[in-house]
Amino acid sequence: MKIYSEKQQITSCVEALRADKQIIGLVPTMGALHDGHLQLVKKALEENDKVVVSIFVNPTQFNNDDDLEKYPRTLNEDILLLKTVDKDSIIVYAPSIDDMYNGNTVSQKFDFDGLENEMEGAFRPGHFDGVGTIVKRFFEIVKPHKAYFGEKDFQQLTIIKKLAEKYNIPVNIVGCKIHREPNGLAMSSRNTRLKPRYKDAAPFIYKTLQAAKEKFGTESAGSITRWVESQFVNQELLELEYFIIADTKTLKTVQRKSKKKTYRAFIAVYADDIRLIDNIALN
Ligand code: PAF
Repeated sequence: MKIYSEKQQITSCVEALRADKQIIGLVPTMGALHDGHLQLVKKALEENDKVVVSIFVNPTQFNNDDDLEKYPRTLNEDILLLKTVDKDSIIVYAPSIDDMYNGNTVSQKFDFDGLENEMEGAFRPGHFDGVGTIVKRFFEIVKPHKAYFGEKDFQQLTIIKKLAEKYNIPVNIVGCKIHREPNGLAMSSRNTRLKPRYKDAAPFIYKTLQAAKEKFGTESAGSITRWVESQFVNQELLELEYFIIADTKTLKTVQRKSKKKTYRAFIAVYADDIRLIDNIALN
């Protein structure tokens, strides 16, 4: 397996692949790889000749120093895990902060037509500037034909499609279904940090989303939102940050449902000091 940590190395590698007419997929990650990531990698392997997996904990998308510091970093295990999937067609790019930011670790400011101000953008100021900065940089360096992102970060996926459109980046953005633990908890690198009792409590998040989906056929978005908020009042270990039913395209909170539109419910919850997000398609 080819493993690179410098821009120059990955640049000459992908240039050679392109000259050879090979189709390149990109799976950007922050490492601490789990089964959800591996699903993205497997899908990318089916649809491309070579797949670059980037592993980089991007400091500019964290708005909480403690979260950045505690974010799991497991490069050796990540590489071993990727080797179990495919040794020949995966290329790992695990750069240093300097390699990505050239000594200037700040993000570019983006206008994603308001998508960046909703939900995660409202609760994590600057987050999507950081994500946009790093993903754009990976697109410029790797020049992938296709790039793969999980629907767990549905707002991120929507924003990255907007990024590619706005900057005319010739990449096909592929969204992949949320991968869940058998108990329903959406897979996330942060799950490894959950203490056992919080891990036991966390599946309540997806159960509540499923119940909200059930109610969506007959109840208003407002009444479902109030119901979800009331469900969390009695949850000792889980603290609801937001539950929002939003238009899938604009990500704006729905006021009045329309049969012509599609909606999703989005949720962010603290389990101890660990922030978990999830979402579900409602119609
Ligand atoms: O979803 C993530 O892991 C990150 O936001 C991404 C897309 C790798 C950018 O750092």
